[in-house]
Amino acid sequence: MNYRIAVIPGDGAGPEVVAEGLKILETIAAYCKDIKFNCTYFPWNCKYYLEHGKMMDDDGIEQLSAFDAIYLGAVGSPGVPDHISSGDLLLKIRKSFDQYVNLRPVVLLKGAPCPLKQVRREDINMLFVRENSEGEYAGEGEWRNKGTPQEEARQTGVFTRKGTERIIRYAFELARERQKSLTSISKGNALKYSMVFWDSIFQEISKEYQDVQVFSLLIDAASMLMVREPQRFQIVVASNLFGDILTDLGAALAGGMGMAAGANLNPERRFPSMFEPIHGSAPDIAGQGKANPMAAIWAISQMINYFGHLDLSQTVLTAIEDVLLEGKVLTPDIGGTASTAEVGDAVVARLSHLLSLD
Ligand code: NAI
Ligand code: MG
Repeated sequence: MNYRIAVIPGDGAGPEVVAEGLKILETIAAYCKDIKFNCTYFPWNCKYYLEHGKMMDDDGIEQLSAFDAIYLGAVGSPGVPDHISSGDLLLKIRKSFDQYVNLRPVVLLKGAPCPLKQVRREDINMLFVRENSEGEYAGEGEWRNKGTPQEEARQTGVFTRKGTERIIRYAFELARERQKSLTSISKGNALKYSMVFWDSIFQEISKEYQDVQVFSLLIDAASMLMVREPQRFQIVVASNLFGDILTDLGAALAGGMGMAAGANLNPERRFPSMFEPIHGSAPDIAGQGKANPMAAIWAISQMINYFGHLDLSQTVLTAIEDVLLEGKVLTPDIGGTASTAEVGDAVVARLSHLLSLD
């Protein structure tokens, strides 16, 4: 197989961690003779915006549509408003390619640090299915009477039957396939349109999946329980905003922002899917070789998994885990002194060893 990958390194720490993820692809291609990756770079980031007045080429979406997958670092730079950098690149790609599933594992790998006391590693093993195409991030609303005492901003959440049904159904299918429970996150007590609607669709669809154990939690209670009883959560389905927030909490439970990956999927495979670390461009540490590349490498594991190489994707995770367990080559965010590239090289060395055994 020859996979065409569009690489968008982005800003700040993005290019640093993406470079390490690409080493993983090279390693896989070196050991698995029937797999090849053809990577094409796109220079779309905030620097590009400052030079060209846009975050991507006018026909950018068309260009990307020719690829099997997109690998993204992170975008965002202090000189450009965040709603432009993320809105005109990241969100545009997610929307144009109908990547309506955002899959974010919250798994405490062996050797990864966890801020919770007395937690058992296996208690933190969740998979978030975040709605990625509408909801609170639909971008609708208005800003009236600017600069007057009557000023008023309204942000409208858009929850369609199609959008809500498909994400909930996707989560149920995963729960059934993996024989896990499914928890729906809501706020039906306060958001009487969107979340009452969400709850009713969740109930409706659950009737088709009597074999799946279900829970429904309010987001505030869920945040508390994720810290106090993380073992309650297996597959979790949430709206765009709620999923965004809870997965940062999840990242903190599973080793920090440097350890959390996310896949933006178009499950019908009509368009390319996009794989990325969930962290941003980390301007505070960018350019210093301090960014942890493990999230970006994990995103590569998700990409390989999406291509159908399930064993290989697990081997990449095992390589990360082995480096964590050994504890010698780690970036500062998880207690080490190694650089981004040193950690990438350590994972590559471990992966090469594991692949040479096959
Ligand atoms: P951030 O995720 O960039 O940073 C938050 C904290 O986590 C910082 O202290 C940072 O040093 C740390 N961190 C992030 N990635 C790390 C890594 N790989 N290793 C070690 N530590 C890491 O979020 P922040 O500061 O809110 O946003 C910075 C910029 O990134 C903004 O312009 C924002 O819009 C953008 N952003 C972009 C995203 C994307 O492209 N997917 C997602 C989130 C934010
Ligand atoms: Mg976020």
